[in-house]
Amino acid sequence: MTDKKATLTIDNGQGSVDTFDLPIHKGSVGPDVIDVGSLTAKGYFTFDPGFTSTAACESEITYIDGEQGILLHRGYPIEQLAEQSDYLETCYLLLYGELPNKAQKDEFVYTVQRHTMVHEQIRTFFNGFRRDAHPMAIMCGVVGALSAFYHDSTDISDEHHRKVAAFRLIAKMPTIAAMSYKFSTGQPFMYPDNSLSYSANFLHMMFGNPCEPTVISPTLARAMDRIFTLHADHEQNASTSTVRLAGSSQANPFAVIAAGIAALWGPSHGGANEAVVKMLEEIGDISQIDKYVAKAKDKDDPFRLMGFGHRVYKNFDPRAKVMKQAADEVLAELGIQDEMLEIAKRLEEIALQDEYFVEKKLYPNVDFYSGIILKALGIPTSMFTVIFAVGRTVGWIAHWNEMISNPYRIGRPRQLYTGHTARDFVPLDQR
Ligand code: CMC
Repeated sequence: MTDKKATLTIDNGQGSVDTFDLPIHKGSVGPDVIDVGSLTAKGYFTFDPGFTSTAACESEITYIDGEQGILLHRGYPIEQLAEQSDYLETCYLLLYGELPNKAQKDEFVYTVQRHTMVHEQIRTFFNGFRRDAHPMAIMCGVVGALSAFYHDSTDISDEHHRKVAAFRLIAKMPTIAAMSYKFSTGQPFMYPDNSLSYSANFLHMMFGNPCEPTVISPTLARAMDRIFTLHADHEQNASTSTVRLAGSSQANPFAVIAAGIAALWGPSHGGANEAVVKMLEEIGDISQIDKYVAKAKDKDDPFRLMGFGHRVYKNFDPRAKVMKQAADEVLAELGIQDEMLEIAKRLEEIALQDEYFVEKKLYPNVDFYSGIILKALGIPTSMFTVIFAVGRTVGWIAHWNEMISNPYRIGRPRQLYTGHTARDFVPLDQR
């Protein structure tokens, strides 16, 4: 709380004026936050569809400055984590607030590795899905179903249960993700190989087969790891807010993370990486870019340039910068000349100079380049959002755990009601 206060003056139109003093909270960095919690007792709600001006919670995990293009996890810039850390170390940081020392890191990695297998009956559970099911549909179902398999980690009031659930989710997400892919191809599921790193093991379960040893390129494993790291957390986005809201009802952690996966799926959020590649394929040729840019600017055309724009970043998305550099490196190392990358680069150039995009501050976001790397890694398009979900799982858990470990109330927004006022029921024969 600061010494500052906001004063809200309401002219009720009948010659009288109501004045309310509202306290102001100060974060460690970022804008001051006006506490409107007392307004309901005074007969008012605030109205903020899309929560553009609303801080729904207090958090110590991630900070974003959208104007400056800054993203910090527990104070550490995302660029440094992507370059100098790895995914599991970033997980530790997000969950516990500090970077681990060597012994802590070894123990954390060891524990995650001991939870990578899924209950054998989950393999049978997969058979209920159609072979052509979207892997995100499978993820929503299977992750939600984990609460039916792991009863000993669903008591959210027990810190140990929460800890075990966190390890299980972080460790099993790559296994379930790879199983959803294998199921769609008709290939056998691969058991995890705990001698491999988190990301190499994921590639092993995606691309290996039981008939021969899997050879995982360190370059590809490192690229995969960086993708997971860049997606690890992003403050109170739609899926994380969904996780917090679902968790606020005291639902179990597996149900809560399934809710996060569902919210992530949409093309305005995590589904954008898949949508970007589909869009680049549709554009097909550099000569067509102008046509698509014009479509994106046309108010009467629902088409949007996927991978552009962000609710918070109004300068650049720092994750996109790292991702672009990583895309260049991966394609160079793999010797891939990707026409899609050429289209993407040209599209970025044109859009960044176009008055419409400049004025609306629409810059490429993380998803603009992630799809290109994932494609180069041989990941099928339908798995892109699944990979986002794997990386984001730790962020969801960190936020859920932060909420549960502190005093919290069930999330319950109100509304501006514009429907009918009370009226009498009309019997069927009189309508
Ligand atoms: N192409 C064309 N116009 C756009 C785009 C775009 N990609 N994004 C926003 N606009 C326009 C929009 O039409 C609106 O114009 P006007 O003011 O004339 O009505 C203005 O820019 C503001 O857009 P908005 O939809 O009000 O902004 P928002 O903060 O509600 O939405 C967004 C943010 C990310 C959903 C949106 O920019 C978008 O749909 N982008 C494409 C999808 C995408 O790439 N999503 C991934 C986001 S990053 C990863 C993640 O968080 O999951």
